[in-house]
Amino acid sequence: MSTLNNHRNGSDPGRAAGVGGAGEAARQIRPRRFVLGVSGASGAAYALRLLEQLLNAGAEVHLVVTDFGRRLLFDEAGVTHVDFANLCPTIASAHAADRLVIHPNKDVGAVIASGSFLHDGMVVLPCSGNSLGAIATGCGSNLLTRAAMVTLKERRPLIVCHRETPLSLIDIENMRQLTLAGAIVCPTNPGFYLKPESVDDLVDFMVGKVLDLLKVEHALNTRWADVARVAGTRSVTR
Ligand SMILES: Cc1cc2nc3c(=O)[nH]c(=O)nc-3n(C[C@H](O)[C@H](O)[C@H](O)COP(=O)(O)O)c2cc1C
Repeated sequence: MSTLNNHRNGSDPGRAAGVGGAGEAARQIRPRRFVLGVSGASGAAYALRLLEQLLNAGAEVHLVVTDFGRRLLFDEAGVTHVDFANLCPTIASAHAADRLVIHPNKDVGAVIASGSFLHDGMVVLPCSGNSLGAIATGCGSNLLTRAAMVTLKERRPLIVCHRETPLSLIDIENMRQLTLAGAIVCPTNPGFYLKPESVDDLVDFMVGKVLDLLKVEHALNTRWADVARVAGTRSVTR
């Protein structure tokens, strides 16, 4: 795992070189950069699969996990340490490890807490009702919620994958508020029309949806059009 000193001090290759010309060229060659927040809602498998897919797609990922997020990663996925080896056991490439930056949730001075640190979007997956409320009301005091609020103020994509059921009016109002502020509320709510055969298929449905929202290409089998083409006879519009 890299400490990526240039990230820690907030510098960016594109910014350092100036706007346009050489600066623009430098900006274009940096990998796409995303922030992934993992909070204490059920759905550790979603977070792990999304992290794997983003790294495999060549993206740089800045990860922040809340205390309850760590507990869920352990309870649901057996993750004992939040590090590259434990989070990404299927990824062999050392280059991928260099593209994962893990920030302590208490470190509200980390680069992702600053709007000057450029990134291409943040996902909170899974998002607890607690983190949802903190982000929606602008009163979060940890790095995950701070980074999400900064993402909103900078008008960058913020995808909030809330998990709870049923919903109280408080959750619904928080989702409404976040939507008005520019976030995309994308509940962990897999469809069944692709005829999933395993939990992994359901996980991929959600992760594919999030990757689509981030405009990251993927090979997950999540498209109705592909199924419909194979089936040939289906005419349902989705
Ligand atoms: C095993 C377990 C499962 C949980 N599942 C959910 C859930 O699905 N949704 C939710 O909103 N909270 C859930 N919680 C409660 C949150 O973890 C709790 O509200 C916590 O304060 C969230 O803090 P965070 O947003 O900082 O992670 C769960 C807690 C535990 C221990």
